[in-house]
Formats: sequence, C-alpha cells, structure tokens
Amino acid sequence: MAIRIEENPKNFYLETKNSMYQIQADSRGVLKHIWYGRRTGRDMSYLLDYHDVGFSGNTYDAGEDRTYSLDTMPLEYAAEGIGDFRVAAVAVTHGNGGNALDLRYESHRVYRGKEGIPGLPYVYAGDADVETLEIVLKDTAGEVRVALRYGVFEELDVVTRSAVIENCGPGPKMLTKAHTVCIDMPWGDWEWVHFHGRHTMERQVQRLPLLSGIQESSSKRGASSHQQNPTVLLCEKDCTEDRGGCFGAALMYSGCFQTQIELDQLGQVRLVMGLHPDTFRWKLEAGAAFYTPEAILSWSDQGFAGLSHQFHRVIREHVCRGKYKLAERPVLINNWEATYFSFDEEKLYNIAEQAAKLGVDMLVMDDGWFGVRDSDSSGLGDWYVNERKLKGGLAKLVQKIRGLGMSFGIWLEPEMVSEDSDLYRAHPEWAIRIPGRQPMRGRYQLVLDMSREDVREYLYEAISSLLRSADISYIKWDMNRNVCDWYSTLLPPDRQGEAPHRYVLGLYELLERLNTDFPDVLFEGCCGGGGRFDAGMLYYCPQIWCSDDTDAYARTKIQYGTSFFYPVSTIGSHVSAVPNHQTGRVTPLSARAVTAMAGSFGYELDLNTLTEEEKEAVKDQISRFREYGPLIHNGHYYRLSDPQKENRGIWSFVEKDQSAALVQGVLFHAEPNMVGHPVRLKGLKKEALYRIRETGEVYTGAALMHGGILLPRGWGDYMAVEYYLETVEP
Ligand code: DGJ
Repeated sequence: MAIRIEENPKNFYLETKNSMYQIQADSRGVLKHIWYGRRTGRDMSYLLDYHDVGFSGNTYDAGEDRTYSLDTMPLEYAAEGIGDFRVAAVAVTHGNGGNALDLRYESHRVYRGKEGIPGLPYVYAGDADVETLEIVLKDTAGEVRVALRYGVFEELDVVTRSAVIENCGPGPKMLTKAHTVCIDMPWGDWEWVHFHGRHTMERQVQRLPLLSGIQESSSKRGASSHQQNPTVLLCEKDCTEDRGGCFGAALMYSGCFQTQIELDQLGQVRLVMGLHPDTFRWKLEAGAAFYTPEAILSWSDQGFAGLSHQFHRVIREHVCRGKYKLAERPVLINNWEATYFSFDEEKLYNIAEQAAKLGVDMLVMDDGWFGVRDSDSSGLGDWYVNERKLKGGLAKLVQKIRGLGMSFGIWLEPEMVSEDSDLYRAHPEWAIRIPGRQPMRGRYQLVLDMSREDVREYLYEAISSLLRSADISYIKWDMNRNVCDWYSTLLPPDRQGEAPHRYVLGLYELLERLNTDFPDVLFEGCCGGGGRFDAGMLYYCPQIWCSDDTDAYARTKIQYGTSFFYPVSTIGSHVSAVPNHQTGRVTPLSARAVTAMAGSFGYELDLNTLTEEEKEAVKDQISRFREYGPLIHNGHYYRLSDPQKENRGIWSFVEKDQSAALVQGVLFHAEPNMVGHPVRLKGLKKEALYRIRETGEVYTGAALMHGGILLPRGWGDYMAVEYYLETVEP
C-alpha cells in the first residue's frame, strides 16, 4: 500500500519505492507537513521542536500554550490572515471584506486510481499504478473547504498534488491566491536550483544558496515563459549529479505561475508553487469550487540524474499522450530558416525532394503559407491558404509531397491575430484589449481572447477544416508574444481577474478537442521556441520546439537545462545552416547533428545548398538516428558535463538493461597543446565488458565509469564526439 494512515495523532504516510511524504493532522486539526525525503518508515514528527518565539502569536484554541504558533510550525497548506506571516498557499476575501482562513482537518478518503481535473491537464494512470489520498480541510468559520489531493505513484517515486477550493459560506467570495504546492522543510540545509533565460536562451541553470527571506521565480507573461520555467529543485548542499538528496516540483501549467521559497526567521524553508497571484482573482459563488493545476513532485537521493530519470519517466509515460507518446518521431525538415516568409510551392517541393533523397520523413511548412503573410506584420487569423504562394492549393502540394514518400506538417499560431487580417477586420472585439486603452503590440500582433467560446469555435472550425482538406500529419502550434492588457469583453468587472486563467483553460479546451478529433496528428508546441515548455503543454503536444536558437554551442546549454525535468523525446531540435542565424557562429555539421539528435530530430535548412560530401553526412546522420533513436528516447539520459562551466557539452543515453550506451557531445574551444581529457560515463554495469564501436576498444564498465573514455584532443572548435558501446562476452 502506498498510503498508510495511523491514528492519534493522525499521520498520513505517502510511501513510494524510495521516498516518504508525511502529513499530520494534530489534535487541533491543524495539518502539518512533517517530511518529504528518504523513506524512513517511521513518524518523523519527533524532529519538530516548538518553543515560544517572540512575535509569533498563538492560535486562540492553544490557550496558555505559547509554543503553539502557526508562524513557526511546518504547514501543509498555509492560509493567509491567521498569524502565519510566511508566504501563504491560499487566500480568500470573504463577503465581509476580511481575509482570514483557518483551515482544520475535516475528513479524508483513500482510493485506488486517480481522478482527472476538470479542464486541466493532469498525470494520468490506471488503478494499478496510483493510489489517491484526499484530505478535506474546513475553515473554522465554516466559510471555505479545501480538498488536498495526492496521487501516490509508488513505482515511479512520484507524488502529485492539487487542491479544490470550495466556497461553503453563504455569499460570494474572491479567491486571491490558490497555489498548488506548499511544502515546509524545517530540517536540512537546502540550495535552490532554477531555470531562467530569455528568448533564444532558455532554461539556463542557476544553483544558489538560500537567502533569508523570499526568493522567487515566476511568470506574469500569460505563458510559462522563456524567462523562468515552472519547475524548481531544492537540493542538499552536497548534492551532485550522482549522489545526494534533492527534491523537484513541476507545475502542469502553461500560463502565469509563481514559485516562492522562503527561508524564515528560524532557518526553516517553505516552498509554494502555483498560479501567480498578481494575475489571478477568481470569484467563487456560494457552493462553487475552484480547481488548481496539478504539480508533479519527486524526491531522489541519487542526485540530479536520479531525479531527472524519475521526471522523464512520469512525463513520458503519464503526461504525454496519444499515438506519438512512445512512438519514434518522424525526422522532419522545416523550411523556416531556409526561406522565412519567401517561398512558393516550387521552393518547398525542391527542399522536400532533396530531403526525401537523404531519408527525411516529413516536410513542415512553417509561417507564411496563409492569408496575406509576406512578413510578420499581417495575416494571422486567416487560416486559409494563400494561393498566390501555393498555386493549386494545399491539397495539391500535400499530394506532391506525399508522392516523395514524405508526410506533411503545417505551422499555425492560433492564439494570435494581425490587425491587418480579415479576421481582425471582422472581429476586432476578439482581440484582448482594455476598453479606452491602446493594447500592447508584440511582433506587431494582438492576442485573441481564448476565454471566449466564439473565438475557440472559430479556431476549431478553421483548424479542423484545414486538417480535413489535406493529408496533414503534424501541427506546429506557435505563440509569438506574451500577453498583457488582461481583459475579456464577456466578463463582468468583478470577474476580470479571471481572464488570465480562463485564457489558459480556453487554450487547453481547444487543444483537447483537436487531440480527440485528430488522434493521428502529431502536435509540436512552440512559443518563439521554448517560451511555453512545461508539463501542461506536454499533455497536448508530446514535443515542443526547444528554442529559436539553433546554434549547436548554445543548444548544448539550453538542452542541458531542459533535460533536468523534461525527457529527451519532448525536446524539438534541428540541424540548421551556418553561419548560424541567431549567433553568426560556424560549427561543423557533425556538431550540429549530435546536438540535434539529443531530441526529436530534424533539419531546418535547404539541403540543396550542401556539398555532396555534406549530403552523404546527412544521410549517415539520419540512418544513425534511426538506429539510435529508440535508445535516445527510451534510455536513461545522463549529463556527463556541465556545458555552462566546462569547455565541453557531453551527455549519454544508457539502455535500461545497461546493455548498450551512446555517448555524444561537443568539445567547445580548441587550445594549443591540449591533452585529451577523459569523460567518465555513468549508469553502466561495473563488471560488464563494453566494446566501443568506433575504436574497437573493450573496457569494463568500472573502468569507463571511474576512469572514463579518453576524448580526442580538440582540433578546431566545436568538434563532435560520438561513441556507441555494447556489452560483449568476456
Ligand atoms: C517562432 C518559431 O519558434 C520559429 O521556429 C518559427 O516558426 C517562427 N516563429 C515563425 O514565425
């Protein structure tokens, strides 16, 4: 049993293979967070040490006991307004204007399996894989009830969390904060790892000691953002890739979010994570309930690699869905960097024809095929083919591409509208703007109000007719600006604060409908690259274009950061031309190829421009990817270097039964008289013998893990390395 309950005091133990999460409802009904970490099998509340702390007041029902303070004890779902002065998880303004919320244990239930969350993505599983605990808390004044839901995945070492907040008072209330996660850790000495960046440089890893007070990573951009990712990691000070305790959380949400970590006056740590309260107000009528997004939590004492493997597995097997979830992804060629807006059917056909000869599976026609769209200043919203560019229409082009033995994919940016478009001329009221004010433009475009049913209906009709009009196998779903000016013309003033979350719910509803009605279409998420790379989008799109930066050197760093939480199969990654269009850097084709192979692989250049020798190399890369693809996507991924700090980016994939491994990477900058540094491998069987295909040498797993493979001396910058290892009989 994954969930164990003891009485007096009431202890809830959520036990997975290697972790334990303990909650306690004390004699006053206050729900305490006792433990999340290594599995100990016992009540860990003996670690709590209460004493009278000045200016940390006491609950009324504590009577004379000045040691009983909500401000100092670890809480499972901290509420605003009742004397816990740390960051709160939930806040409500009642009908009388007050905002106190004193939540106490009311009931609980345990059941096998796990329920979905209305309108939101969630970690799904059959009854055999998960057990659910629901603890219901009720406000002492009888105004609010909160159900905390925990999905316990014993085998996966994963616990999921979400909350349902219900107004059980007589009149309406305003929910002003509704976080998903609240975890208090009075014990331990933690460091904070988060993933920050910008457009074309997403998910850079930063590891920091905690400062007294509050630290935050968040987004108010209407998308989970390039700048911060809705994932967080807390690790023990001595935690490395291979050893040490660490704990991670990934919010399954694609809009505004907030993660806060507070190191309090006593040196205790609180983590909260959920919807960003600055862009959230939700009116709860009497009897109404609000569902928070879900978060995925995992603990590992096998360092970051162990934690990543746990997240990779749960996301790949229990978040991603559909036909492509575990299937080999098509190797695609995308025309964006080859042509930008300037193409016609002939140019596309030429690109596809050459690609087909070299073994590519699919042509993706990117931005510029619809409405009047010769630059980024017009056309968005008019999702019908521009016959001036594509003579004969879409179906004819798709048929021609199919004739090459390739499938066909198409780019869309459904959430956006250009002012210079038929759609905007017909429905200016569909664009988000505050009456009486000019809206912000981003890439010249405005944002459609996805909370409106008529907008979603228009988009569904437009996209489904497109998919029915031709044999289209793939959609790249882009979003090229962030959202502000939050306002929805259909909402009354006291509900305008709901617009940002309703936008995301609308987006999810449309994606769900399209996923259901077109189960054979592969959806790739995109937001100017990786500006919406989160576990929420992955529920609808099993791969996401990782970054608009296709430079192999920068990509090793971006993909390094992305790999902490997200499986390799979710990372869209292409070989592009040199000099690189984002950085001007020239890297060898081989370096671009190994970097792109560590993802869902493709090309983004006109292969006709390559020399015959380069074309042969591309052919070889594709056949290598076909051979190694299953290992790349299903194996255990290891980061073998830190490309942010070292002069190389090296990673590996190891078969789950340890029978084979693929080591790939790029040696960055050559220096004179360089010696060839070894790279130590991970995850092999110590006693097994491995033969390196490229050199014919045979080593024990122990030698490869403790000594390593001696890498060649760098000759020229950005030299690619690749070694395939297989076990051999002694
Ligand atoms: C941003 C995407 O990330 C690019 O790959 C490309 O599709 C452009 N948008 C097209 O506008």
